[in-house]
Amino acid sequence: MKILSGIQPSGQLHIGNYFGMMRSMIANMDSSELYAFIVNLHALTSVHDRERLARDTFNAAADFLALGLDPEKCIFWVQSDVPEVTELTWVLSTLTPMGLLERCHSYKDKVAKNLFASHGLFSYPVLMAADILIYQADKVPVGKDQKQHVEVTRDIAIKFNNTFGETFVIPEPVIDDNLAVVPGLDGQKMSKSYGNTIPIFQDQKALKKQVMAITTDATPVEAPKDPEKCNLFAIYKLFAPADRLAETHALYVNGGAMYGKVKLELVDLIWEYFRAAREKREKLENDRAYVHAVLGRGAEKAREKAVVTLNLVKERTGLKY
Ligand code: ADP
Ligand code: TRP
Repeated sequence: MKILSGIQPSGQLHIGNYFGMMRSMIANMDSSELYAFIVNLHALTSVHDRERLARDTFNAAADFLALGLDPEKCIFWVQSDVPEVTELTWVLSTLTPMGLLERCHSYKDKVAKNLFASHGLFSYPVLMAADILIYQADKVPVGKDQKQHVEVTRDIAIKFNNTFGETFVIPEPVIDDNLAVVPGLDGQKMSKSYGNTIPIFQDQKALKKQVMAITTDATPVEAPKDPEKCNLFAIYKLFAPADRLAETHALYVNGGAMYGKVKLELVDLIWEYFRAAREKREKLENDRAYVHAVLGRGAEKAREKAVVTLNLVKERTGLKY
């Protein structure tokens, strides 16, 4: 079973990315053939700043490793280091109906938020399809927002197979329905593009400032509160051990929960939760050559797989003459 997913280096990785995607990828390391990569070509649709893109690409890779991704147990690389994927993108784009891309919510949402409506942003799902199909992935763990893109990938793969003969595995999205979307500081979905995130790696002072800024309502301390409707509690739940969670839950339900106290406890919980990862992250920061070597080896392995699929595609389509 091949499991594949990617993450954009378009800003600091946050706890929503961790609980939404990275944690399940890391948990799959022992049971599957795992492909994890940093999608810098996709990030180029929104980041046109050389230093920022290069820095965030390195940081996303180091963050993933620090959080426990073991490069011996998976293939881990940077998307642009496998140029075959852009070659496949072109072939797939000649089979992709315009209407399929015109229906994509992600494109429409991004343009509504004033992102530059480039051809690259429009054809973003075709590059994502090439990412998935070139490695013949069976399963693609993603958040709800990416489900449509995996469906587009399936449509393109089916169209290719019908036109040129069986070539691609038809992948399936894996969406954890139990995991509610992690809310951000303002209660909307936590997202790099909304500026409402809690980054995984930062100093304690910045962490405290963010957690203290989580929006809460004005219910008095002694009044009962519904924990399921409180975004502070939703984040607290991700980090608190069972006994603390039960006590705080009871204070919410029976009255007596002080948001300020819950926030202070949450700062400590988050700080402790990522302590080991933070230490590892600091080591990686001081050994940048190691991170580059890991990515170099990963790209070689990924490329070997990609070339096999691309050769098949060239044969099937007549590009090989
Ligand atoms: P962002 O919205 O911060 O730019 P990405 O689009 O790069 O995040 O998402 C990378 C992965 O992290 C995706 O699989 C996405 O579903 C997941 N993810 C992002 N934000 C959240 C969130 N708030 N809750 C759960 N999962 C999330
Ligand atoms: N589009 C995905 C996102 O924004 C990132 C991505 C690119 C991806 N290629 C992928 C995810 C392939 C899964 C598989 O989150």
